[in-house]
Amino acid sequence: MKFQAILAPLAATLFHEASANTFRQRQVDNLTSRIEAETTIALQGVLNNFGPDGSEAPGASAEVLIASPSTENPNYYYTWTRDAALTLKMVVDEFLHGKGDLQPYIRSYVKAQAIVQTISNPSGALGSGRGLGEPKYYANLTRFNGDWGRPQRDGPALRATALITYSRYLLSTGIDSDGTEAGNIWPIIQNDLNYVAQYWNQTGFDLWEEVDGSSFFTTAAQYRALNEGAALGKQLQQEVSAYESQAPNVFCFLQTFWNGNYAVANINVKQSGFSRSGIDANTVLTSIAMFDPGASCDDTLFQPCSSRALANLKQYIDAFRTIYTINQGVSRSGTGVATGRYAEDVYFGGNPWYLTTLAVAEQLYDAIQQWSTVNTITIDDKSLAFWQSVYPSAQTGSHTKGGYSDFTKLTDAVLAFADGFVETALKYTPENGALSEQYSRENGTALSAHHLTWSYASFVTMRAARLAVTSDYGQVPSWGSPSNPKVPTTCTPGSVKGTYKPAVAAGAPSDAPSCTYLITFNLNATTSYGENMYLFGNSSDLGGWRVSDALAGSAADYSDARHLWTFTVELPAGAELEYKFLKKEPSGEVLYEAENRSLAVPDCGDESPGEQTMEEDWNGPVGSETE
Ligand SMILES: *[C@@H]1O[C@H](CO)[C@@H](O)[C@H](O)[C@H]1NC(C)=O
Ligand SMILES: *[C@@H]1O[C@H](CO)[C@@H](O)[C@H](O)[C@H]1NC(C)=O
Ligand SMILES: *[C@@H]1O[C@H](CO)[C@@H](O)[C@H](O)[C@H]1NC(C)=O
Ligand SMILES: *[C@@H]1O[C@H](CO)[C@@H](O)[C@H](O)[C@H]1NC(C)=O
Ligand SMILES: *[C@@H]1O[C@H](CO)[C@@H](O)[C@H](O)[C@H]1NC(C)=O
Ligand SMILES: *[C@@H]1O[C@H](CO)[C@@H](O)[C@H](O)[C@H]1NC(C)=O
Ligand SMILES: *[C@@H]1O[C@H](CO)[C@@H](O)[C@H](O)[C@H]1NC(C)=O
Repeated sequence: MKFQAILAPLAATLFHEASANTFRQRQVDNLTSRIEAETTIALQGVLNNFGPDGSEAPGASAEVLIASPSTENPNYYYTWTRDAALTLKMVVDEFLHGKGDLQPYIRSYVKAQAIVQTISNPSGALGSGRGLGEPKYYANLTRFNGDWGRPQRDGPALRATALITYSRYLLSTGIDSDGTEAGNIWPIIQNDLNYVAQYWNQTGFDLWEEVDGSSFFTTAAQYRALNEGAALGKQLQQEVSAYESQAPNVFCFLQTFWNGNYAVANINVKQSGFSRSGIDANTVLTSIAMFDPGASCDDTLFQPCSSRALANLKQYIDAFRTIYTINQGVSRSGTGVATGRYAEDVYFGGNPWYLTTLAVAEQLYDAIQQWSTVNTITIDDKSLAFWQSVYPSAQTGSHTKGGYSDFTKLTDAVLAFADGFVETALKYTPENGALSEQYSRENGTALSAHHLTWSYASFVTMRAARLAVTSDYGQVPSWGSPSNPKVPTTCTPGSVKGTYKPAVAAGAPSDAPSCTYLITFNLNATTSYGENMYLFGNSSDLGGWRVSDALAGSAADYSDARHLWTFTVELPAGAELEYKFLKKEPSGEVLYEAENRSLAVPDCGDESPGEQTMEEDWNGPVGSETE
């Protein structure tokens, strides 16, 4: 167990006073055994989804982690940057806990991400950094041109965090004595951090790929990445001023999601008619993503044990107590129930998800770790309702460990409450232990994508958090969250333009174009409701003349005065291309222009990306086919 040394074991375990024979203890032991059995299945479930040899990932490129083997209804046979990064963070944490045989997967991930960063896609390319915000790629590491909620700006931040955790391990153990491995990984992290520093203050799609706005989860992930990235960069003697200058701005912005009662999942929402409460698993996943075992119960950092995060958690859980049939009969507050993404969800019938139910437990186990480290629980007006739901006689005030205080009773109550969510997830896990995305709100049967990588990863991280409080397993390393960070009095928007380079030493192709042009096509085209404009052409960036791969235009600036459709395409400098516009009718009929247009992208100047705008007029329709 040579890796154990860098983990801080939490000295006190919670059961020192409990008699091993009590009913509660037998229940706990029973759950522990079932968790261990499921963990073996879950970890293997993740590895099965790794290409090219994973049993569930046939045809996936080497090093690619697919989201699920499901190829229809829904088709998740893609690699998502977010899902892969969250899963790899789990893999790195397990590796740090002594699972040495996981290192090849981490190294494979590094290589795959070096390649992924260079794949130009509908969000853009590496030259401007915009391509890093693309949510997903085909399992054979090619671009996916279909309509999608893009960009999604959490991916680069989460990938940076997974790679930073691994790099810190490399540097702290001296295993990478000349710093070569960490040095090769840094350019990947640097591209991602540059992306965050440049684009954090622009909207994008949330982690559920539905809402175009600013997501609490994304903003928090960005803050953490900038913070720990600056620290790692300094250690590697790299330029980090952009990260240090933007981190306080992101931190300030993060505070604005709090509405007094809970963190609102999405703000700055662009879609009209958007009306949700904002109570969403997004925020529970945020507290886990922000968890630092070395932090105090800080509200501004939304630490799992903070009053804000606990109040938020209660609002979240209670939103599901009455809406699911399977929760009926367990609606007493203080009991674990099935939870989903958000109460208004209708995707696949709007069911509970395994990963969101397990996230509740994980936040609470994380919180217990933090209270046990600081030896104190402080109950205030904000967190009182949470506490009274798990421990009815709870009162505001501080409870310090030892003496006559309620500290142990409080943490025991939280542990039992958390265990109730794991019991719920296990109750609705099929006998073979396979974890899908969802389980039915009506009867608990597994639904939607099967063998979901993220479901499996969430089980393993939940288990590690639980073991950290019930055994001498050890904690995840601190990410160096600041203590008592000061929230700026006024929030400042911000952006630092970054430079982006293929991480060749880590495995990026050496001929990947790093110099690009952002070409904006302003197309005048009169359309009626349900008609959409597309662009396609003779390169892979332009869909290779395939209607199904044509790039969708945006009608965001369309008005009665100006019938404007816009396309922003990032193309390699010096390319010569042919293209034309298409109109898709609501019936599926495709109308296209007769004449092909041509374009010569200028050669690379001093600065990448160059920018150019083309003014165009729809010249169709003349041809027609049905898609
Ligand atoms: C846990 O308890 C259940 C119900 O009493 C029992 O069926 C199961 O075998 C136990 N599992 C383990 C691993 O002890
Ligand atoms: C990659 O996979 C997609 C989806 O299966 C397929 O359409 C495409 O042809 C593949 N591309 C290559 C280069 O194999
Ligand atoms: C940009 O930052 C400012 C200051 O925090 C904030 O008011 C604004 O909503 C942010 N916009 C986006 C899209 O992040
Ligand atoms: C369980 O509920 C789902 C809908 O949520 C339904 O499709 C399925 O048929 C039900 N299964 C059983 C065994 O009742
Ligand atoms: C696209 O067409 C242009 C002009 O005919 C040609 O020069 C170029 O090589 C073509 N590009 C590709 C990728 O086929
Ligand atoms: C012109 O466009 C069509 C697609 O509409 C394409 O099939 C054809 O190859 C193009 N012609 C040339 C000369 O590039
Ligand atoms: C597009 O429409 C605007 C406003 O009607 C007009 O000023 C502009 O000249 C048009 N562009 C082209 C290329 O026709």
